Amino acid sequence: MTSQVLDLALTESSLRPLPGPAAELLRELDAPPRLGAHLRIVHDVAWSLTDALGRRRPDLEFDTTAVLFGAATHDIGKVVHVEELSAPGHAHEEAGRDLLLRYGVPAHLARFAGSHASWDDPHVTLDDLLVSLADKVWRAARVEDLEKLVCARLGGAPWEAFLELDDVLRQLAAGADARLAFQAAYPITA
Ligand SMILES: [Fe+2]
Repeated sequence: MTSQVLDLALTESSLRPLPGPAAELLRELDAPPRLGAHLRIVHDVAWSLTDALGRRRPDLEFDTTAVLFGAATHDIGKVVHVEELSAPGHAHEEAGRDLLLRYGVPAHLARFAGSHASWDDPHVTLDDLLVSLADKVWRAARVEDLEKLVCARLGGAPWEAFLELDDVLRQLAAGADARLAFQAAYPITA
C-alpha cells in the first residue's frame, strides 16, 4: 500500500511527473517519501538538462527517454539501503540495478541505478554522464572531473564546450534552494 506522504511526494509541486512505470514501481515498493521527492527532483533537472543540451547541440546523440528513466530510478536501491538516504554509501547502487532487473526493467534502463556514481568507468556513455550530472546540479553541486567528461562528449573547442555547459548548469543550479526545501519537507519514514 502506498503511503499518503509518498503519494504527495510523487504528485505535489510543479515538478514534472515521473515516467509512469517509475512512479508505479515506487508505489509498489512503498518507497520512503524522501526518496520519491529526490527522484522527482533529479528527473525534473534531467528533463531541463536534456532539453537545454538538445536545443544548443541538436546533433549531440543521447537517449532522452533512457536518461529520464535513469534519473527517475537512479537511487531506487535506497528502498533496500534506507540508511543511505541520510548517510553516504554505495550499497544502494548494485542493489538498485538488481531490484530493477527483478521487476522486469530492461538492462539498458536498469543500469543507471548502478552507474550514477561511476562516471570514471571507461564504458560510461553520455546517457550515464547526464544522469550523474543531474544528480549533482539539482543541489548546485559542481564536479569538475564529471563536467570535463561531459565537455569532451560535446566536442569542439574545450573552452567553448565548457562555457556552454557552464551556462546550462548555472541556470539549473539557481533552483537548488527550492529543491532542497522540497526534498527536506518529506520524511524518510512515512
Ligand atoms: Fe541521487
